[in-house]
Amino acid sequence: MTDMDIREDNAHAVAAATDIFAALHDPAVRAEPYPLLSSLRERSPYTMTDSGTVLVGRYDDAEAILRDGGLTPFQGLDAVDHQRLRRLVSKAFTPRAIAVLAPRISEIIDVALTEAERRGSIDIAEDLAYPLPVTIISEWLGVPAADSALLRDWSSLLTRTFDFDVAAKERGRIERASAEFDGYFRELIDYRRRHPGEDLLSRLVRAEEDGEALTSQELLSTVGTLLVAGHETTTNLISNGVLALLRNPDQLALLHADPRLSSAVVEETLRYDPPVQLVWRTAREATTVGGVPVGAGEWVLVLVGAANRDPARYADADAFRLDRRKPDHLGFSLGPHYCIGASLARLEGSLVFDAVARRLVGAELDEDSLRYRRHVTFRGPERLVVSMR
Ligand code: HEM
Repeated sequence: MTDMDIREDNAHAVAAATDIFAALHDPAVRAEPYPLLSSLRERSPYTMTDSGTVLVGRYDDAEAILRDGGLTPFQGLDAVDHQRLRRLVSKAFTPRAIAVLAPRISEIIDVALTEAERRGSIDIAEDLAYPLPVTIISEWLGVPAADSALLRDWSSLLTRTFDFDVAAKERGRIERASAEFDGYFRELIDYRRRHPGEDLLSRLVRAEEDGEALTSQELLSTVGTLLVAGHETTTNLISNGVLALLRNPDQLALLHADPRLSSAVVEETLRYDPPVQLVWRTAREATTVGGVPVGAGEWVLVLVGAANRDPARYADADAFRLDRRKPDHLGFSLGPHYCIGASLARLEGSLVFDAVARRLVGAELDEDSLRYRRHVTFRGPERLVVSMR
């Protein structure tokens, strides 16, 4: 299918859909959403007639909205509680705390690639990108290894709450997963109060007891947020990055020649094919975005994938290029809600891309294997098979 065919198809999907989410869920759009995102960006900002939400796709408008403390995330906390929680959680994400995770991250990558070399192929999504972040966050939280499969299942279901096509049957499964998750972590939190360690959960418990305090309920929802915010996002950074490299052999050759470019792969992937595609805000007070009025309590939807390819901001915006100077993408958001886990995600991503540069020599992408997850807020492949010589 050519770009033009996709554009026409997408335009048709938008016209036929009651709202843009149905269009975003269309399997053809999930495989290649950028032509649609580009046409939405060109029309934006505008108020969607069916929902009243203001759609934002241009970089400058998106930047202004994300930096504006007068807008809060969908289902967000009030500003004071948010700042207190953010301060406490950030304390655990020190550069040193992140750096000590590096050897374990490298070990997991090494095991996966050694197995791949033995087999002659690897499903990047399933065998590497999915297990790596959830294993790291589980171990950091101090979850016993035997239970990390539980976290994997919960995380995958809880992540679905960000989407818009959750059917009643699935909602039941998500609610059960959420209740099991709460029960499990209530027990682990109790245990860590009695037997504190150096793990992240013990640190958060200590932060709770240091006076300014996370309540038990806040502690529980923080752990849930860390799991959901940190898992599939990082998974998708890895898979989207490997996919972009394999589809752009000239850029892969640059990386082979200089593995120090692995950090540039992280930043360019976060711009070119960002794992988090949709960011929501509600206005505390009436405001405007790019001249379009937003009433108090009304929603704004930022299309990160559209803004990150705005030709008004980036030269050659639709190209994957490792020579861009400034990592000024919106992949980790900006302003008061800038991603707390950015340094951990950057570390995991750059260690993977560094290993890929050294070890996936002569790798060939099996395009037919490529299948995207059903999610639209988080974007990334479910299956991505690569054969190795
Ligand atoms: C490549 C991987 C990641 C991407 C693309 C990503 C992206 C984002 C984005 C776009 C936001 C802002 C949402 C908004 O403005 O409403 C965010 C917030 C957040 N992220 Fe990440 N994230 C990643 C990895 C992680 C990791 C590894 C963790 C922790 C283990 C994490 C924890 C958080 C938390 C706690 C917030 C909320 C911050 C706040 O509201 O103040 N993220 N992330």
